[in-house]
Amino acid sequence: MKHHIFVPCWAAAFGVAAFFMPVAHAAEPAHLLAGYNAQAGANASPERGQKLFTTRQGRDWSCASCHGALPVQAGRHASTGKHIAALAPAFNAERFTDTAKTEKWFRRNCNDVIGRECSAGEKADVLAWLLSLKP
Ligand code: HEC
Repeated sequence: MKHHIFVPCWAAAFGVAAFFMPVAHAAEPAHLLAGYNAQAGANASPERGQKLFTTRQGRDWSCASCHGALPVQAGRHASTGKHIAALAPAFNAERFTDTAKTEKWFRRNCNDVIGRECSAGEKADVLAWLLSLKP
């Protein structure tokens, strides 16, 4: 009896996980932006995003220090010199397609550059600007 209950439950749980997994991890830049906008309760401003990206925020680096002022081509890590692939999605199809990766680097880089995490609105601004960069 137990066995009969267990099997369908397991199958259902697996089905649910398989359904939600792509939603949680694989993303599209435009959907990610919509999510940040919703979280911020406001619409993103590409101009504000560009400003945040290219100006220093009181620390040694700006975002542009590693990604370049126009991140349509590879940048160079400001301290290690390591190659960093283009950040704008139109120039690098892998960008902003993995929510966990995006969140990890936003957290780390905003802390390095601003000394705190970026707000949802700031992430939306930066992403909106990056999405506006076209070949
Ligand atoms: C000290 C160098 C450095 C600085 C400064 C820096 N980044 Fe990055 N950034 C990296 C590296 C290294 C990676 C990870 C390698 C990669 O994805 O190419 C990365 C990755 C990212 C990603 C992941 C994108 C994705 O989903 O693939 C985002 C978003 C990002 N950076 C935004 C920013 C923003 C916004 C700032 C300014 C607040 C900033 N970075 C400043 C080095 C830097």
